[in-house]
Amino acid sequence: MCGIIGYTGSREPREVLMAGLQRLEYRGYDSAGIAVQSSVGADVIRSVGNLAALREAVGLAVGAETDSAAGAVGIAELPSSTGIGHTRWATHGRVTEANAHPHCDDQETIQVVVNGIIENFATLKNELVAGGSAFSSETDAEVVAHMVAAVYDGDLVDAVRTANRRLEGHFAFVAMTANQPGLLVGARHECPLVIGVGEGECFVASAVPAFLDYTRLVVGIEDGEVVAMRPEGIEITGLDGETIDRQPTEVDWDVETAEKGGFESFMLKEIHEQADAIAETVADRTVRADGVDLGDLGSIDDQLLREISRIVIVACGTSYHSGLIARYAIETWARVPVEVELASEYRYRTPVVGKNDLVIGITQSGETRDTLAAMRCARDAGATVLALTNIMGSQAEREADGCLFTRAGLEIGVAATKTFSSQVAALFLLAIRLAELRGSLEEKQLSDLVAAMKHLPHLVDQTVAATEETAMEIGRRYAKAGFFLYIGRHAGLPIALEGALKLKEIAYVPTDAYAAGEMKHGPIALLDEATPVVCVATDSAVLEKIVSNVMEVRARGAVVIAVETEGSTALEGIAEERIAVPATDPIIGALLAVIPLQLLAYSIASELGLNVDQPRNLAKTVTVE
Ligand code: M6R
Repeated sequence: MCGIIGYTGSREPREVLMAGLQRLEYRGYDSAGIAVQSSVGADVIRSVGNLAALREAVGLAVGAETDSAAGAVGIAELPSSTGIGHTRWATHGRVTEANAHPHCDDQETIQVVVNGIIENFATLKNELVAGGSAFSSETDAEVVAHMVAAVYDGDLVDAVRTANRRLEGHFAFVAMTANQPGLLVGARHECPLVIGVGEGECFVASAVPAFLDYTRLVVGIEDGEVVAMRPEGIEITGLDGETIDRQPTEVDWDVETAEKGGFESFMLKEIHEQADAIAETVADRTVRADGVDLGDLGSIDDQLLREISRIVIVACGTSYHSGLIARYAIETWARVPVEVELASEYRYRTPVVGKNDLVIGITQSGETRDTLAAMRCARDAGATVLALTNIMGSQAEREADGCLFTRAGLEIGVAATKTFSSQVAALFLLAIRLAELRGSLEEKQLSDLVAAMKHLPHLVDQTVAATEETAMEIGRRYAKAGFFLYIGRHAGLPIALEGALKLKEIAYVPTDAYAAGEMKHGPIALLDEATPVVCVATDSAVLEKIVSNVMEVRARGAVVIAVETEGSTALEGIAEERIAVPATDPIIGALLAVIPLQLLAYSIASELGLNVDQPRNLAKTVTVE
């Protein structure tokens, strides 16, 4: 949930740390801080708010150092420039400067930045306090600094390894001490930590983009390993101190992918990237005209896919909505029963699941705590678990029996857009593969679906181009409405749910989303002339039913904004606002409807002057319950 960065080398460390934090800000952004080694200890600068506040504080501090000896002189005397930085999303302790990282022990010997949660922090803190330690924050992270300091006797690597053995939870951290200038030591357990190796310099971070401006040579760190980083290189050791030889691999990510590429926000850029993301996800899997090849799914082979008797999908938020759409595709095309469950609920039930079930954990980040827990719960009960994620090397991939990747690239905007449509595309492919293996569709139906999937990126591009202006214009017109109701049926229902979530999360406008047929059982009471009702009315077998539901809405005077299929006349003269998406298979076509809904939410949030990329109270990766 937080982002960590570390640097040792000969560059100006504040610049490297600030640039890295900038690229990690999507992971957390309620406070931030950096600590840079000096010959007399560490200069620590922390501030509440997003990185702009820290940047200002760092700028002032750098200027001030011309007069104050400690920082500038101390750093100049050192053989290398070494520092750590952190961007925080609060879990334990309020959003205050004292709770911002880096943290240190009370003697200020050890500085740390921590991502994740130390679950046994209360026990450890009690022990440390009983031993005389004084804490200065409310965080669980501070115990890490005290734990390392308590066992430090001149060897930071040993101290980190010893302290690490006592820590429980899911975390990654990096420590440094002025007693060993130029050295950074990192460890992880179920949270990401990657090393960047440069010429005479080393980087460490929660994610590769943090140091992509400086090096493309990357080394991954595994749970339980401890990595020592010096300008001249890294040394990885295992649980017992044995050296592990791991060579860097070169990543081919372009720094551009982490930038806005000319759009006014990451979210808008990512909405526009959906065709590419789907094309990447679909491309090599739809080479055959008569079926789909999903590639290596670990131990999930064709035999297993033929034999499973049920699919259970566990996910949260937008990923849950992907699962809901997948249910229509899998049940219709492959005739396998599907249940879709909120991971946060599933994990605390005593679900009936077993060896004939395939459980699919959908998580774009691959790190969502509740989804991982639900996957574990199913696996422990004997089910086969497939992860659907966008992140290679993520926890979801590590813990599953097999993994299906979306290839949406990095998504920076907190609101999921391109990862959502890529997830749905990947799930459609899975549904087609299941149908193929189980013989549930005629050859012609199968090849039509494959052709539709191949064509989908083109339709997505067309949809963005055809709907952007209209959706933006409608958004501006209705931006002041205090409440929006979203309705849909069949595969259009999850799209309505997703559209409503988008508006809620980025524009803070109250919304509700309902199965259109359920309106008369309650929600219709909400309607009056001031209520816009967004209706997903793309082609489907239930279009006529939706038209009746829209008539019910109109009879209450509410305004109808309909997303329909190009050429459809069903809502002519009925809906005030009509946005058309291209025609294709009805289930696949429902996905296209999400694009104008993303744009509508975007337009309203922009009109209200909100930060669409970093909505309040939310974070991109939710590694807490
Ligand atoms: O990384 P995940 O897909 O597991 O994330 C699940 C949700 O936290 C996520 O979809 C969230 O709802 C997004 N903010 C939606 O835009």
